[in-house]
Amino acid sequence: MCGIVGYIGNKKASPILINGLLRLEYRGYDSAGIATMEENQIVVMKNKGRVNNLNQLAGINDLKGTLGIAHTRWATHGKPSNENSHPQTDNSNEFAVVHNGIIENYHELREFLKENGYYFVSQTDTEVIPNLIDYYYKKENNLLKAVSMTCKDLKGSFALEILSKYEPDKMIVTRKDSPLVIGKGNGENYIASDIPAILSYTKDFYFLDDNEIVELTNKDVKFYNLDLEPISKQIKVIDWGTSSAEKDGYDDFMLKEINEQPSAIRGTIGAKLDNGNIEFENLNFNKEYLESIKKIYIVACGTAMHAGLVAKTLFEKMCKIPTEVDIASEFRYREPLIDEKTLCIYISQSGETADTIAALKLAKQNNAKTIAISNVIGSSITREADYSIYTHAGPEIAVASTKAYTSQVVLLSVLGIYFAEILERVYNQEIDELKQEILNLPSKIEETLKCCKDIKKFANKVYKETDMFFLGRGTDYAVCLEGSLKLKEISYIHSEGYASGELKHGPIALIENGVTVISVITNSNLVDKTISNVQEVITRGAKVLAITSENLGDLGFDTVIKIPKTNKLISPILSVIPLQFLAYYISKEKGLDVDKPRNLAKSVTVE
Ligand code: G6P
Repeated sequence: MCGIVGYIGNKKASPILINGLLRLEYRGYDSAGIATMEENQIVVMKNKGRVNNLNQLAGINDLKGTLGIAHTRWATHGKPSNENSHPQTDNSNEFAVVHNGIIENYHELREFLKENGYYFVSQTDTEVIPNLIDYYYKKENNLLKAVSMTCKDLKGSFALEILSKYEPDKMIVTRKDSPLVIGKGNGENYIASDIPAILSYTKDFYFLDDNEIVELTNKDVKFYNLDLEPISKQIKVIDWGTSSAEKDGYDDFMLKEINEQPSAIRGTIGAKLDNGNIEFENLNFNKEYLESIKKIYIVACGTAMHAGLVAKTLFEKMCKIPTEVDIASEFRYREPLIDEKTLCIYISQSGETADTIAALKLAKQNNAKTIAISNVIGSSITREADYSIYTHAGPEIAVASTKAYTSQVVLLSVLGIYFAEILERVYNQEIDELKQEILNLPSKIEETLKCCKDIKKFANKVYKETDMFFLGRGTDYAVCLEGSLKLKEISYIHSEGYASGELKHGPIALIENGVTVISVITNSNLVDKTISNVQEVITRGAKVLAITSENLGDLGFDTVIKIPKTNKLISPILSVIPLQFLAYYISKEKGLDVDKPRNLAKSVTVE
């Protein structure tokens, strides 16, 4: 998805802007551009393709302006091209705008502007914005006012940075349903759609809320509502280390993030399981309320949804509350049965996924309590939810999620145990054993990471395949879905995750000599059942990689990866690691860009 960076201060803006864009490359994009204020004139440089191409444009090093805006575009309205790249300007190059999001009524606004003498050179929805600002500026002679009037006309989602040659010492930024943060420096201010873009410059952040407009100069950051009444905002200090957004000697962010999982999980567990009962700083549920809950919905997209699938088993077993897991884009449109006896949990690493946020708003409208689980403090979803809890896994940069998944499963598990302690529907011993297993996870993850060499060898054998199947039962099935998604995302190999028991109901028709099957076998109560399914595929010539905590004996597997044993409710936290490595090494063997897979974005901020 699109990325935004901005700078206003005393330094040359262009290197800061380019550096910020490079740090946002992971979000996915197809063109890039910057605009700086050069002696009271706006200079725009943009082009299709990578930020590095932009950085090589003739004249870019001559930009001296100390105020600028920048953008990486992920094409929605209009193909990737120089004209469609941002910044977009008005007809007279007096206003420049970068925009994340989608303007739903752009067609109507275009017609209105055309009637008023404006013309359009791009196919973007964005181009109406600088022209509309120009239209209002001509009436008001005040940039802030012109922006606020423009925002009132816009329908859809937007995060905007705006420059004007008429007020060359200022920048205006605003947002609605699309993230934007301001980093406060000393005599300078930074703007970004994502914290990692500017984390090396400051740790002091303002998080904008919807419909807030900000007027920035070198020294000042003034906040207003849409009617331009001043409002006050508090700085939040982000405790992510600067190096957390660097590769730190690893070839790729994904490999770094896979290896960071022991420390990420330590961060997630924090002091919650130290002694006595679990406590969450931001939660205060009592027994009466939890007993009134008839259903839990866990709602999310992609990998986060897969984390929910693991937690479903734990919530049902430990809390005895029926738990449904739903894809946010489905949930929001299918009129789910929600009332005050429903608890809705939303998971989003970025906290900015449009569908997940919309699904949360739906639950609030229907009087359900909402909990957001996110990795980003102050992200949009955490500001919408009744309660927010954080995974504290550190920034995740690679598009394919790894440590965010495991930290989400851990946090959901701790949350489930917290509810179970209050509800007292299972024996204390069961709760205590599970707590202990969670505490043991970081060292067991360290042990599991040692499988990387064997997985690399297996990846070398199978990287030319075009199809793969992941089979498992119980929570092993949940992790198979995640393993299959990882493979699709970064190796572009078609794969399917199946519940082993479903094998005979269709997929076995696809099994023939040489087909690769990944079998996850950690749920000890289901080992015999899973093994008999796996034998059916081995008999038909499949090449099987088994990932197991059990002693399986010699059953004709191609490769067996032994992982430490843990409670089956949380075993995906370990068994996903070989699956992450498998996707990673296959992608490397194929020579692909692991961190920035084609067509994908790290956070999907539009529907
Ligand atoms: C995108 C990413 C996935 C991620 C999903 C949900 O599709 O590529 O890795 O799982 O969005 O993102 P979220 O930030 O809401 O967890």
